[in-house]
Amino acid sequence: MRAPKYSGLVDYEGKLGIIYEKIDGPTMLWHIEPTKQSLSYNAKLMANLQYELHNIENKIHPNLKSEITDKVHASQEMSIQEKEIIKAELNSLPDGNSICHYDFHPDNIIISPNGPIIIDWLNLLVGNQEADVTRTAMMIQSHSLPPNAPSWLTDRELREDFNKEYLREYVKLNNMNDEFIERWMLPTLAVRIDEMQGEYRQEIKDKLKIRLSKIEIS
Ligand SMILES: Nc1ncnc2c1ncn2[C@@H]1O[C@H](COP(=O)(O)OP(=O)(O)OP(=O)(O)O)[C@@H](O)[C@H]1O
Ligand SMILES: [Mg+2]
Repeated sequence: MRAPKYSGLVDYEGKLGIIYEKIDGPTMLWHIEPTKQSLSYNAKLMANLQYELHNIENKIHPNLKSEITDKVHASQEMSIQEKEIIKAELNSLPDGNSICHYDFHPDNIIISPNGPIIIDWLNLLVGNQEADVTRTAMMIQSHSLPPNAPSWLTDRELREDFNKEYLREYVKLNNMNDEFIERWMLPTLAVRIDEMQGEYRQEIKDKLKIRLSKIEIS
């Protein structure tokens, strides 16, 4: 498994911490150069790593859809009617039993001398791989950026190119088309609202509203 080895828990200033093996190297976020070649290479690498993860055999009971349902239910940012529509849409989506990292983005992949290592596993869910890919695409498209973000991220066109190349590679590997993204985007945005604050929360709420209005009309 491309993950740092776990070596126990530590009590640090009254808080519980997890100790992992230290991985050398920059994350993919900082490793990418603002050139077509580098963007394309890394977008494809990211898709391949995620595809590899989704195809690891596991016997963990699927929990992705139930966790999303619980989070939507607990949120104070949506009306009861909106929650009902989101839950109905989610129920119509396939279950699946893939390992989903659910925070899979270029700052959670360390490009080490021994190959790429994936970090930050605390969101792990088991369910449909389409949910994980939709979440990644949503995060790449978000207006919220890390501090001092590199130029390939601040340049919206380069970022969009990266996202398109990543999705193209993933759907090719999985022999599927990209229609699932729009279907999964509604519950994916709904879960994201409470993870964000201020203007970024508003951005997610606005994107959700646009999709909800389409469903209410049809
Ligand atoms: N095993 C590791 N070896 C080396 N560096 C690591 C390791 N785990 C995490 N890091 C570094 O710490 C940063 C944050 O770790 P992580 O992604 O697990 O937490 P996070 O909750 O996403 O925090 P943040 O919001 O700061 O990204 C990573 O971007 C990486 O630079
Ligand atoms: Mg992280």
